[in-house]
Amino acid sequence: MRMGRSGIALLLVAFCACSAIALGQGQSHSSYKAEDRLGTESGFGIFQLRCTRCHGNPGAAKPAPAPSTLRQLAPEAIYDALTTGTMKVQGRSLSDEERRRVAESLSGRPLGGAQPGDASNMPNHCAGGLPFRDPLASPAWNGWGADPSNSRFQPAATVSAEQAPRLKLKWAFGYPNGVTAASQPTIVSGRVFVGTDIAYVYSLDAATGCVYWSFRTKASVRNAISIGEIAGHAGKYAAYFGDAKANVYALDAATGELLWTTHVEDHFTARIAGAPTLHAGRLYVPVSSFEEFNADASDYPCCTFRGSVVALDAATGRQIWKTYVIPEEPKPTRKNSTGTQLFAPAGASVWNSPTVDVEAHAIYFGTGDSETEPAVKTSDSVMALDMDSGKLLWNFQATENDAYIRGCWGSPKKRSENCPRTLGPDWDFGASPILRKLGNGHRVLIAAQKSGNVFALDPDRQGALLWKVNVESKRPRPNPVLVWGGAADAQNAYFGLTSGGMVALRLEDGARQWFTPMVAKGASRERKGMAAAATAIPGAVFVGGWDGRLHALSSSDGHELWEYNTARQFTTVNHVTAHGGSFGAPGPAIVGGMLFVASGYGVFGNDLPGNVLLAFSVE
Ligand code: HEC
Repeated sequence: MRMGRSGIALLLVAFCACSAIALGQGQSHSSYKAEDRLGTESGFGIFQLRCTRCHGNPGAAKPAPAPSTLRQLAPEAIYDALTTGTMKVQGRSLSDEERRRVAESLSGRPLGGAQPGDASNMPNHCAGGLPFRDPLASPAWNGWGADPSNSRFQPAATVSAEQAPRLKLKWAFGYPNGVTAASQPTIVSGRVFVGTDIAYVYSLDAATGCVYWSFRTKASVRNAISIGEIAGHAGKYAAYFGDAKANVYALDAATGELLWTTHVEDHFTARIAGAPTLHAGRLYVPVSSFEEFNADASDYPCCTFRGSVVALDAATGRQIWKTYVIPEEPKPTRKNSTGTQLFAPAGASVWNSPTVDVEAHAIYFGTGDSETEPAVKTSDSVMALDMDSGKLLWNFQATENDAYIRGCWGSPKKRSENCPRTLGPDWDFGASPILRKLGNGHRVLIAAQKSGNVFALDPDRQGALLWKVNVESKRPRPNPVLVWGGAADAQNAYFGLTSGGMVALRLEDGARQWFTPMVAKGASRERKGMAAAATAIPGAVFVGGWDGRLHALSSSDGHELWEYNTARQFTTVNHVTAHGGSFGAPGPAIVGGMLFVASGYGVFGNDLPGNVLLAFSVE
């Protein structure tokens, strides 16, 4: 559940595990080290290490505001408190960069981002434009997985495999002052909808990149937006998404006006990393957290967050049900030697977008690891819930006893007392399960785990295991091997590997159809591997690398059709200085003869940050 931090986070965990091991994190509970900096997420860890002694500790000598109260403050207010205000003594022990990081992570949005991000301050307004029409009337890539099965397959791509080599950049849009482009664009009715880390959501014209509207969110938005008609309001459509402070929003898709917003989880570390799934008038919202980030800090009352999925009425935002991955509430266990009360059970974040099974009336999602021992039976699992009631239908646990906290890698003797005695492998399910029908009429649910194991489960037999394959042939494997997931057409599932390359597995039996190694090139040679989600169209499959290169491969034999290096500066339609970089979570969205992708996943510190949305079309 480390994923908790943000879906990304988890991924980060994966990426950072090795370097962290090398750094010997045994002391991380006593001091924050510069090497701990892991991009935009690191401020959460600073808070756990340096602030929870007072904030979040009911026994503190002088009552300090609760973390959830601090999270309501603007980043400027937190930064000012640490530099010139009431917290300047505490702030003195941090570098200026660390003060900025903790202010931005707590508030969920960057310093100084409000003005330049507003569409009214941009030069490229759309003059009129087409009316916003029925999303179903024109080709779309709507939400994370393109369809309720999360196949990430676009059957109606007017880009063909033959045309892929002729994809040319058409326009670029820059996120003002952004350092992370981590939201996958949605394209509906000729418009692009995308969230940003600068806490703005934009609606752009798909053909030109002109801006229709912007909306200021309470925190950054990294998931994919879903568009749907609002029940009882024929011809009116809403844009749905969640933010880094566990708020879900519905905006008028045509104008960007707020229709409703609902806070789905009170834990102060809660966030929505995976995209809420929209189906038949309901939103299924995955809830994740950043608690695991530095829960080893001995001042931190580890651990109290539980992952969940929440069903909301899409018309009103009203909660229909909420199912925690861990049914029991965390209870006090023991005190550590600093006197901090510890709790269990906790963890099992959900940082992938739920999959809808209309036939079985079920929703499926993957869960992350447990934060506490003994690990719960629902961590590192694929869960099936009844759509109407949220009741558990079945659970498939891939890895038992995976209790894990970032920062606990050192030798057991040097570890924080908050750490699990037996540290688990951190094998979350970060990818959305993919539901597919085989040629023989049987159905299969494909779930990819960080371990590199791909599981095929039978959705019509309580999730019974059909086959299991590991995508890595070599050991030792990197951790994680599979992060944000694959794409599947009618024959195969395709996965990018963090060791560098892509593999095709036959849906029927998991047999490997091909493997294409992909080496990172250029200035970012050391940034190898594919963590981002893949995208498929008839005849081709697309995946972006940590080095910023986007690839198209033939789905029949894996040969490369096209490559484009996004790790460079771009001239943008909104005149913002913009740079591409690593591909992290989001994959490309392909629709109407165009390909859209956000580039620059600046989250983990070993990546290439960026702030650009790119649109390609076939020349
Ligand atoms: C030694 C205890 C202690 C530590 C450590 C501490 N704080 Fe505080 N903090 C307090 C108390 C007490 C208050 C309330 C002060 C008051 O109202 O005068 C406070 C208030 C604040 C406020 C509100 C300031 C305002 O003007 O409203 C912020 C923001 C804040 N702390 C952030 C932090 C951050 C970030 C850290 C870690 C880097 C931190 N604090 C560490 C005790 C602490």
